[in-house]
Amino acid sequence: MVLQSSCTTRSIKPSSKEVKTTPNTTIHCCLKEAYEDYFPIGVAVEPWSLQNDEGELIKQEFSSITAENRMKMHHLRKSATDYNWLPADNIAEFAQKNGLLLRGHTLCWHDRIPEWFFVDRLGKELSKEQLLARLETHITDVVSRYKGQVYAWDVVNEAISNKDSEFIEPSRFQKICGNGYIATAFKFAHDADPNARLYYNENGFLQEDKRKKICALVKSLKNEGVPIHGIGIQGHWSIYEPTESQLREVLEEVCSLGLKVQITELDISVLSKEDMKKQHGSIKPMTEEQETRQAETYNMLFRVFREYNRHIDGVTFWNVSDRHSWRDTENFKSYPLLFDQNLKPKKAYQAILDFMK
Ligand code: GLA
Repeated sequence: MVLQSSCTTRSIKPSSKEVKTTPNTTIHCCLKEAYEDYFPIGVAVEPWSLQNDEGELIKQEFSSITAENRMKMHHLRKSATDYNWLPADNIAEFAQKNGLLLRGHTLCWHDRIPEWFFVDRLGKELSKEQLLARLETHITDVVSRYKGQVYAWDVVNEAISNKDSEFIEPSRFQKICGNGYIATAFKFAHDADPNARLYYNENGFLQEDKRKKICALVKSLKNEGVPIHGIGIQGHWSIYEPTESQLREVLEEVCSLGLKVQITELDISVLSKEDMKKQHGSIKPMTEEQETRQAETYNMLFRVFREYNRHIDGVTFWNVSDRHSWRDTENFKSYPLLFDQNLKPKKAYQAILDFMK
């Protein structure tokens, strides 16, 4: 991985990489440099976040980007024959121009998938063979287009069921093709770009039952010789969970599978699930107490991530700043990121750099 540095200085942290000026001022720069010896620090972007001040912030702080939405099937494909490449191409170009790593998200996700994908021209549901052929075309086209640019793909996203009584989510893919579609998707991606690192991406790792199912799936893929290189832990969490012991339990179990691990969609909401239900129609500012607790949570997460550095090969924030987060609604803001709406670093930013002191 070759990363270009375009950091400017910030008056925060000191370390082996510090630049000493006067006896009392130690200047350090940015997240990507602070974590250079650990793992790339990524961020999920939309084409518009690559412009103006956010674009500058991305170049300064991060070493990797992921398309938040633009490589998802419903954005890329309007029909069986039409591709809308431009927004995804813009993101890939930004990565290339600025020496950033590019993660691909996501090749096979049952959610938000256009209906045409599962039916023929007459509206009749495809057979297993037809659906797998369509999936192969999609994966081959997308992976080939970004071959040599996307270094890691989230190949299959969220295939495990949230219901205790089910293993694999009974999606259209599963119903038509059986559980084998997951392994097949990985093979298609590997055939299209044998050098790309391939991840299985999921949420719900804090629930023990779901975690066991995820690990069982990944273990069986690995045992079958499926080309899978890593597991993506999404990480849409809050200042209330995970606790340090929960996080350690998750990492112990996931890392023991012997594959690489990435935190692929990290954001720490300052609201609990109950808060979200309560807040209707009045967007409240973040309180001092919430910001402090968020900084403590981020500090703990990154302390543990650094400890598991041997296994973790990427941590990606899901969105750039509190200006825009997919976790906000018209009823509330959840302030889950490191930078505020003016792109100023929050306490959480300092908190994940405090190890450099
Ligand atoms: C999942 C997906 C992401 C994003 C979020 C929010 O985590 O993996 O791409 O869509 O849901 O919708």
